[in-house]
Order: sequence, then structure tokens, then C-alpha cells
Amino acid sequence: MQPDQPIGIFDSGVGGLTVANAIRHLLPDESLIYFGDTAHLPYGDKSKETITYYSEHIAAFLLEQQCKIIVIACNTASANAYEDVVKLIGNQALVVNVIDPVVEYITSQENISTIGVIGTKGTINSGTYEAKIKNTSPRLSVVSMATPLLVPMIEEGFIFDDISNAIIRSYLSKKELNGIDSLILGCTHYPIIKNQINKFYNFKVNIIDSSKIVAMNLRKVLLANKLVNTGGNTQMRFYVSDYTDYFKAISKLFFEEDILLEKLNLWK
Ligand code: DGL
Repeated sequence: MQPDQPIGIFDSGVGGLTVANAIRHLLPDESLIYFGDTAHLPYGDKSKETITYYSEHIAAFLLEQQCKIIVIACNTASANAYEDVVKLIGNQALVVNVIDPVVEYITSQENISTIGVIGTKGTINSGTYEAKIKNTSPRLSVVSMATPLLVPMIEEGFIFDDISNAIIRSYLSKKELNGIDSLILGCTHYPIIKNQINKFYNFKVNIIDSSKIVAMNLRKVLLANKLVNTGGNTQMRFYVSDYTDYFKAISKLFFEEDILLEKLNLWK
């Protein structure tokens, strides 16, 4: 592995662009290859076997593209397929997920004691966040709740309006989440509604947005492995397994700038 090789990033769709965006800001000299599996979106209601099958195909593609590290920028795939992807890739590239860096961060904060986690059904039903947090820090109490309407809500553009306020309020007022001091946004779509969630809690709950934490962890991993690129000549490529104008339009919401999305079907 060499520092000038690209970083591979994948998600079930365009939500992982929030992570790609944070990586680009923190590590502007790195080349990025992004793959959004829009043909199979959403992963959140699929089985572990199916999520693993898709994730392994994408990881193999990113390896073929000479990526030095693969970032699983999807909580659902991180919760269900991380170990299998690591096994598949072996020592040919590094693999990181979006859950471990958040667990490391949260368990190192002394002022945190009661944590809520929201995410897709696939992430929450896997119990991965709870298990990993409890394993590292048994003193912490963790409650989790699937919030499946949030992804379609965001993708349909209901952000900061009456509909999104009502849906967010309805989920976050559930008694399961009473008394939390921190809330993990366990889905790469959710940073888009972070401000609204903060507003719901009157800024009294610590909202954990994994995209920045993941980017900082990635820098740490690259530094530890002497793989930080300093040579310039940066490239960015964005692939999706299905292309529509709609994906192009919403990609800007997640990446904050116009990008060229290229269609590439890995499952021909
Ligand atoms: N972005 C995905 C995640 O972080 C959720 C979208 C999906 O259900 O595919 O879990």
C-alpha cells in the first residue's frame, strides 16, 4: 500500500457523501473513489446476508481500483457486513467502518452516561452499537430506536419544515429516549437534520454526528500506517449503481457541491 493510492468509500446510496465530504475537508490531498449502491437502496430493511453480499462486491471493486483503505460509510453495512468485508480484503487494503470510531469517541467522554442511538432497522436490530459500547464501557446505559421514516423523509427533501418537524418530534418524544444526555446519529443521512434534532432538544442533548469523527479516525489510521498522501494530484470519482436525475439532485444536499455521478453496475 502506498500513500498516493485513493481512499475508497461506499454506502447504500448518496447518504455516505456526508462522510466523503467530511473526509475531503479534513484530508484535501487524498484522492477519493465513492460508490453508492443506489440500485439496491435502501439497505436498512434488508437481511444481513443481502447487505453482506452487496458490501463484499463493492469492497472488491474498490480494491480493484487500488484503494489503500476502504471506508464503509454506511451504518447498516458497518453493523452487518464489516467483519466479512475485512475477511475478504485481508491484508490487501485497510478497512474501517463508521461505528467503531463513534464508540471509541463516546466511551472516552466522562460527561456522557445515558446514550440514545437512532438508525435504520438493519442497524438497530443488529444491536451492534449497544454491544460495542457496553463491551468497552459497561457503566454506560444505551437505548436504541429504529427511525425508518427519516431516510425517505430526507431523500424526499423534507428538511426543516412542518412535516420533518412532526416526524422528528414523534420519534424523539418516545419514552425509550427519555433522559438521554447524548444521541448518536447512527445513519449517514442524519447529519442533514442535525440542526433540527438539536432544536428539538433545545441544544441540551449532545448530538453525535459520526461524519467528522469518522474522518478524524481515518486520518489517525492513515498516519499510523504512514499512508497520508502529501503528493497532490488529487482526484475524485463518484459512482452509483443506478443513475437518475433525482440522485444527482440530492447528491448536492449531502456533498454540498455539484459532483459528476457516473453509473456503474457491478451486478451485470
Ligand atoms: N446511509 C445508510 C446508513 O447509514 C442508510 C440508508 C439505507 O437504509 O440504505 O445506514
